[in-house]
Amino acid sequence: MENKLIPKEAWGTRLGLILAMAGNAVGLGNFLRFPVQAVQNGGGSFMIPYLVCFLLMGIPLLLIEWSSGRFGGKFNNHSTPYIMDGMGKARIWKYVGVFGIFTNIAVAAYYTYIESWSLVYVLHSVWGTFEGMTQSEIANFFTSYVDVFTTSTGIPFEAVFFYVLVLVLNIFILSKGLGGIEKVAKIGMPLLILFGMILAIRGLTLGESGKSELFPEANAWDGLNFLWTPQFDSLTNPKVWLAAAGQIFFTLSVGMGTIQCYAAYIKANEDIALNAVSAGFMNEFVEVVLGSSIVIPIAAGYLGLDWVLENAGFGMAFQTMPFLFQQWGEIAAAFSGVLWFGLLFFAGITSSLAMGTPWMGFMIDEFGWGNTKGAWSFGAMALIMGLPTVLLYQYGVFDEYDYWAGTVSLVVFALLEAVLFSWVFGINKGWNEINEGSDIKIPQVYKFIIKYITPLLLLMVFLSALITPFQNEWAENISSVMNGGNWVLDNSSLIKNISNYGLNEELNTAVNETEKDFLERKKFYINLARILLISLFGFICFLVYLSNQKRIKEGRKNYE
Ligand code: PHE
Repeated sequence: MENKLIPKEAWGTRLGLILAMAGNAVGLGNFLRFPVQAVQNGGGSFMIPYLVCFLLMGIPLLLIEWSSGRFGGKFNNHSTPYIMDGMGKARIWKYVGVFGIFTNIAVAAYYTYIESWSLVYVLHSVWGTFEGMTQSEIANFFTSYVDVFTTSTGIPFEAVFFYVLVLVLNIFILSKGLGGIEKVAKIGMPLLILFGMILAIRGLTLGESGKSELFPEANAWDGLNFLWTPQFDSLTNPKVWLAAAGQIFFTLSVGMGTIQCYAAYIKANEDIALNAVSAGFMNEFVEVVLGSSIVIPIAAGYLGLDWVLENAGFGMAFQTMPFLFQQWGEIAAAFSGVLWFGLLFFAGITSSLAMGTPWMGFMIDEFGWGNTKGAWSFGAMALIMGLPTVLLYQYGVFDEYDYWAGTVSLVVFALLEAVLFSWVFGINKGWNEINEGSDIKIPQVYKFIIKYITPLLLLMVFLSALITPFQNEWAENISSVMNGGNWVLDNSSLIKNISNYGLNEELNTAVNETEKDFLERKKFYINLARILLISLFGFICFLVYLSNQKRIKEGRKNYE
């Protein structure tokens, strides 16, 4: 039944749709997370599991999500609770669909914070703030920026101010509906690729020219070789596979609910197969080609590969890059800073906009809200969830959100939706949905992969995260169990994580009062973060319950 309250939103053009979807996928993950994951997992040994995960989990999940979304859109459902409800008869599916709203709000809360850093760094690059600073001064600049209460960057609460500003910018664009998102993607994506290419050329041509007395071994080629020389030795190491799978989820934005939401605005007979594959490959181009040609080679070119291996982390982008740019002279430094942080900003905003849409779609569908109300309420929730990550950054609230919402939830949700698609909705019906109106022929093996391989791999990924063995020594633990020994869990395993095991251990061995005091606080705030996350999930469940009562009262069928 048509709900008259709902204005029929749809994508303007096919190019707009693909750019918006690519913008959704291409994000901070491509430039900040990918290089770090690759380096931490052995460079060339990461790439093979990564590509396998792309083919066996990434592409299938893209197809599942695009087709589920378009399917839901036929019945005017634009967010996962009712998209999934329409695919499975059991009541539980609408509550599984809560993940597809929850994750986005929780991730947007800290994601927009990083986005605001990039914006600020664009400004500081233009202002020449980093001119003449030493490497450690530039690194400290970041540390004091995120230490909101004792900031020494000159502007009090600068971080909070810019965070709120970026959030408001997101809200403003979201309140314009799909048209706003499409416009931003049409401007942002080409610029991002252009900026990325310029920096990548720099990375690829730097060679040995950046070496110095302090770093006589520096060579950009070492960085590239490290990433691109295939290594087969760690193919049997589940840790590398887990990292690769996690990266594929995050970068493609699967297991989040945004793709379903975007796809729900596609018309019933329009292609999804070719679109899905195009947007997916565009993301991979940006990630694998551009993402690996900037930070790693440039850093290796000045500081050497050993330095990169020791210091790989989030900080490289904000703490090291501005220093390296200084080596190119004042003007080029400002210019490169604008390119690099501008690129991050565009990558970020086209993704955070996507995160707003499932909530908005839900409230519009179910409670007749408009775009403006939908956008502002999304912003308000992201702010409530996000302020603790900003104010309590050094206590690990940020990381806690990233772990539960940005990692665990994606896998759980992807597993459940893959089961729903192939085993409840039925793979035959599902395969028809994928191919309806399609402009390319997806190889038949994918029907098999989607039905068996993808859910199985997802289950394996989930289980391995649940029971990660001590120090990731899988082989040793397995053989020890075979010989009647115990399975020893690592502190990073999901099971030990839930009980704050590692943190408690640290607390028990704290050497002095200051350290103990810090850890006590940390524990308190981490528990607070969890309470916030659970409350958000519960709140959305409650709204789904209300909407269902409303539907029953109004005699609105969920599908058919
Ligand atoms: N794919 C985005 C990135 O690489 C992150 C994202 C996840 C965006 C989920 C939207 C939804 O940064």
